[in-house]
Amino acid sequence: MSKVRRIGVLTSGGDAPGMNACIRAIVRAAIYHGIKVVGIVRGYAGLIKGEIVEMDVNSVSNVIQRGGTILKTARSEEFKTKEGLAKAAENLSKWDVDGLVTIGGDGTYRGASELSEKWGGAVVGVPGTIDNDIYGTDFTIGYDTATNIALDAVDRIRDTAASHERIFFIEVMGRESGFIALDVGLAGGAEVIIIPEQPTDIDNMCQILLEGRARGKVSSIVIVAEGDEAGGAYDIAEKVKERTKLEYRVTILGHIQRGGSPTVRDRILASKLGAASVEALQNGISNVMVGEMRGKIEFTPLEAIWTNKKKMDISLYKLAEILSI
Ligand code: F6P
Repeated sequence: MSKVRRIGVLTSGGDAPGMNACIRAIVRAAIYHGIKVVGIVRGYAGLIKGEIVEMDVNSVSNVIQRGGTILKTARSEEFKTKEGLAKAAENLSKWDVDGLVTIGGDGTYRGASELSEKWGGAVVGVPGTIDNDIYGTDFTIGYDTATNIALDAVDRIRDTAASHERIFFIEVMGRESGFIALDVGLAGGAEVIIIPEQPTDIDNMCQILLEGRARGKVSSIVIVAEGDEAGGAYDIAEKVKERTKLEYRVTILGHIQRGGSPTVRDRILASKLGAASVEALQNGISNVMVGEMRGKIEFTPLEAIWTNKKKMDISLYKLAEILSI
């Protein structure tokens, strides 16, 4: 594949802190290599409508520290149709775009791969989601910030939980994965962590909480991943109350985890992956996602991203159990 002359960049799916740092890296690395850049607004939905703007070094001034995405994002149903895909491909050709960088979760890559077939240009994906559930990279852009925000909330809730001698069930995001819950639970010293990757045993959880009380614990924290098969934090809390009669409160952290200024780690990861995506396109590499594994930039074929499930380090779950007694 020949070198690219004009790159399009878009963000798709849920926004994540660090996406702006990544857009900035893509725009500036491209300009450094003499490649033109256009921004596609509102992800694939905007691409279908032709919402495309020229970008230059100034388009990304003062954005490295900003949460969200300056290009806006969307989840597009139309893009999943033949007609939607055709319109998206047509707009890329109309704008003379021959390389596309898509920043987002795994839904983003399926779209990119189909688009590449239809339009004939080169595509590179960059993992941007707070969920960290993407194969081919140790961390996704946004995960570090989201876990730090959630951890800060857990620390605050601990104060009031201790004062009132209550159990708190704190629900965190993560879609169908428990990466956020596991890290926040371990780092926050939670008594129980509920994640889809491990079976949920309500009776065992009640025993842990009651034994804790008997040993003198005045309050407890239970971290619940939103995608657990046992239900949401409210359902689980009610089941525990029925069996233990212990007073509880529930906090759903929700979208607060998606906002705010990105951490150092997210800004650096975003900068590295953004620049690497441009270099990949420049070197004729296509249909891959650029990730970082054990400190090294790695390219993984797009199809492998959705056909493989990212492994979780379950030893952390056991460690949390041991340390939370
Ligand atoms: O994928 C990121 C994420 O924040 C998930 O953790 C969550 O399940 C989902 O997006 C929420 O999506 P929306 O913002 O569309 O409600």
